[in-house]
Amino acid sequence: MASQMALLAAMLPLVLSLEAQDPKRTVTPPYNVNISSLNLFVTLHWKHEEEERVNFSTQFRGAFNGSTWDNCSSCTSITGTQCDVSMCVSYGFYIFRVRAERRVSTLNSILMTSDWVLSPTFNQDRDGRLGKPSLRVWSKANKVLARAEIQLNRQVDPDGHVTYNFATCKDKRCWEKQGDSDVEISDVPGRYCVTAVALYYTMSSQRSSSKCITVKSGVTWMQVMAFVFGVCTLPLCVAFCLRYCHMNCEVPQLPKVLQDLLSMNSESSKALPQEPCWPRETHYDLVEEVERLEKQTQDIPAEAVMPQENQNQKQPMVIYRGYS
Ligand SMILES: *[C@@H]1O[C@H](CO)[C@@H](O)[C@H](O)[C@H]1NC(C)=O
Ligand SMILES: *[C@@H]1O[C@H](CO)[C@@H](O)[C@H](O)[C@H]1NC(C)=O
Ligand SMILES: *[C@@H]1O[C@H](CO)[C@@H](O)[C@H](O)[C@H]1NC(C)=O
Ligand SMILES: *[C@@H]1O[C@H](CO)[C@@H](O)[C@H](O)[C@H]1NC(C)=O
Repeated sequence: MASQMALLAAMLPLVLSLEAQDPKRTVTPPYNVNISSLNLFVTLHWKHEEEERVNFSTQFRGAFNGSTWDNCSSCTSITGTQCDVSMCVSYGFYIFRVRAERRVSTLNSILMTSDWVLSPTFNQDRDGRLGKPSLRVWSKANKVLARAEIQLNRQVDPDGHVTYNFATCKDKRCWEKQGDSDVEISDVPGRYCVTAVALYYTMSSQRSSSKCITVKSGVTWMQVMAFVFGVCTLPLCVAFCLRYCHMNCEVPQLPKVLQDLLSMNSESSKALPQEPCWPRETHYDLVEEVERLEKQTQDIPAEAVMPQENQNQKQPMVIYRGYS
């Protein structure tokens, strides 16, 4: 073991100098360089042969004309095989490149590098994916409500507007509804199954898992009792009101002819009730009575109307039905 170590130590400078001289023996380049984007978190990733201890540097540029390579900060000389490049891309087409690097310590600060390896062209709209939004479905006061939410990389787009498309099915009938976050699905009892999709500019997310809810008819015994009580008492209230409100509001005016008759017969005037209101049926009877009296009065000769001691019986008597 010790002899092997000694041999290795003796050969190391030779191996390193050979490496430095032979460009083909420099550093193995990374492979499978690609970009994935989920919920605006953009990751550049690649693979490399494990036995080599190397660092990696990455650069990017616009995919079209005239663009120059730039460093994506914090993705230079890193040890891992992936890097967050979210802040380096916007809404365009981009290309990344990655290379492996190794410092040769014995020859101090000579940086050996692999060739750059290009990534495929990346475009957020085309290649970015939005995962499943979280979905909550609940009922409140007989209403079916739903709320969806997707966790986007808000560093990239702090104000980006997300809407949600809720698909609901009930008894084999399905419909869609769009909303900012919370929506009312229905206010009818039944069994509902809801899924949601997040919409962000031209991108739409994966469909959320389905959430089902059964809303029973929310009518409680208390509500039934209140309803029945209401239905039963309403006619009573109306009847009560028709009778007593009417009495309170309508003071019948005696027709002129009746007032004259009453003033002629002091005995009759005593029969006039003193209440301010007249019961309804009495009022109607009174009208009939007045009409009848008016007819009679026309029939009676003028002198007969004058109060005379012996003709009291001929005088028309006003009889108020209901006050006997
Ligand atoms: C890069 O990844 C995307 C999806 O993640 C895949 O469709 C594409 O084929 C990959 N490209 C290469 C060159 O591996
Ligand atoms: C690329 O650049 C060349 C010359 O600089 C120009 O002629 C060409 O139109 C450009 N292409 C695009 C797609 O911009
Ligand atoms: C990128 O980073 C490397 C190493 O830090 C540096 O040498 C190079 O000049 C940088 N390139 C740009 C365009 O900033
Ligand atoms: C690799 O990265 C580590 C830390 O990121 C650093 O200490 C080391 O010097 C780097 N090696 C090379 C060869 O750049």
